[in-house]
Order: sequence, then structure tokens, then C-alpha cells
Amino acid sequence: MNAAHADFAIAAKALDVGYQSASGALNIVLQDFNLDVSAGEFLTIIGPSGCGKSTFLRAVADLVQPVKGSLEVFGSKPVDSRLKRDVSFVFQDSTLLPWRTVLENVLLPLQIGKAGTDGSSGDANALLDMLGLSNFKNRYPGQISGGQKQRVAIARALISKPKILLMDEPFGALDEITRDRLNDELLRIWRDTGMTILFVTHSIMEAAYLGERALILSANPGRVRKIVDLRSLKDNGQTLSREDPRLTDAMRDMRNELSHC
Ligand SMILES: Nc1ncnc2c1ncn2[C@@H]1O[C@H](COP(=O)(O)OP(=O)(O)OP(=O)(O)O)[C@@H](O)[C@H]1O
Ligand SMILES: [Mg+2]
Repeated sequence: MNAAHADFAIAAKALDVGYQSASGALNIVLQDFNLDVSAGEFLTIIGPSGCGKSTFLRAVADLVQPVKGSLEVFGSKPVDSRLKRDVSFVFQDSTLLPWRTVLENVLLPLQIGKAGTDGSSGDANALLDMLGLSNFKNRYPGQISGGQKQRVAIARALISKPKILLMDEPFGALDEITRDRLNDELLRIWRDTGMTILFVTHSIMEAAYLGERALILSANPGRVRKIVDLRSLKDNGQTLSREDPRLTDAMRDMRNELSHC
């Protein structure tokens, strides 16, 4: 544990992350990537396709290893956080197991998970209740809508009480009304739990509406282009109206910045 960095949920310094090609060559995706995320922060991440947004989340989740530099999750290596189950991931296309009911899907991480944790269906029921899924808990994934599946995926990610929730375009496939509703539910969950959330999106509105800060990445190589601080708009933890002119201004700046990425 590095005490100097322990206050940060995530600290990336001069980080390079890449992938080995079939020929053995290393393709660097993120280069000289520097970022601090405070504990409890809601950070949104936006940038051109292929700039390395998912790669960064994967590095935090210990699904890909850095080539260079340092990456700490609560002052430790990503592998330690993974083993402690401090980090949960929600993907764009939630992969629920079709032969398990909604409730059984939510319980899955506990059943395959850390020793000493019992698969408490009490916690799962409370989560399903919170996400408006109580009436669907005995259904199978094939019997619920896309929005409901994403809610199940969120419940499944929350069941292990993670300190960090990584969300990779979780609502990208949903209609706008459902997406707005889930955005508001997510903000409520974030405020209730005090979790750190990293949320990747292609929607400027979503990035500005949800984030305390919005990270704009440039491509080739993936680098931090700009961090837009939105906290002053959201004082006292208030949720902004989607029509708030200050939000519209911030979105205009972000769009302009993205056009230069
Ligand atoms: N497993 C992999 N092996 C090799 N290259 C990969 C792998 N995963 C991603 N890449 C490459 O790394 C780069 C960054 O990919 P990444 O998925 O992080 O981008 P992204 O910003 O999430 O894009 P999108 O917005 O399209 O989801 C891309 O050029 C991609 O082709
Ligand atoms: Mg991606």
C-alpha cells in the first residue's frame, strides 16, 4: 500500500497499455496516460472509437496488463483489487446466463466468488427491488427487455459491494427514455453507495449529465486530451435538468474538443 496514493481510487502515471499482435509486435493503445480519480468520484469517459476507453477500464480491472508506467487501484496493484473483488464491470451487452433466472444471475458472482461469502438472496432481493425488478426475478433473460437486462447486469455488478464500478457503454443499446431513466437510477445508486464510478459513453449528453468530471481522450495514441470539471454545476449533489443552459454550454465545449481529437 502506497499511503501517498491511497486517497485515490485510481492513479495512473506515465501509463502505456497495448496488445500483442499475432506476429508478436506490440501495439501501444494508451501512451503516457496520466489520471487520478478520487475515491467516490463519478468520472465519465468519452473519445473517438478505438482511442482506448475500454482498454483503460480493462487495465483497471486487471484484464490487460500495463506495458509501462504505474497503475494503482486504492494504492495497490489492479490484481490485488481484483482478488479482493473491489472492482465490478458492466459491459454494453450484458451477458446474462440464459438458463438462470434473474435472481440466479444476480447471485452468480457470490456463488463463484470469494471464500466466506454466502450467496445471500436477501441482498440480491434488495438490489432487485431497488432496480425495479422484483416482479421479474423468476423470469429468464429471454423473457425480459433490453433495459431490464441492463438493470440485472447492474444488480449483478453491485452484489459483491464493489468500491469501483466500471461501466462500458452500459446503456448504448437502449432507447433514449429508458437510458435517461437508468441514468437517474445510476446517480441515485452512486449517491447512496459512495462508490467510485468510471462510465464510458459515446453520448456527450450522458457524459456531461452523469459525470462530476468528464475525461476526453484523443486517439492514436490514446491520451488524456482534456478533463472537463462539471462539479461546480452540480453543487450540493444536485441533479441538473437536462435542459439546463450550463449543461448545454458544457456539452458545446465538449463537442468542440472532441472534434479535434
Ligand atoms: N484484445 C485486443 N487485441 C488486440 N488489439 C485490441 C484488443 N482490444 C482492443 N484492441 C485495439 O486497441 C485499440 C483500442 O481499443 P478499445 O476497445 O480500448 O477502444 P475504445 O475506445 O473502447 O473504442 P469503442 O469506442 O469503439 O468501444 C483499438 O485499435 C483496438 O483495435
Ligand atoms: Mg470500447
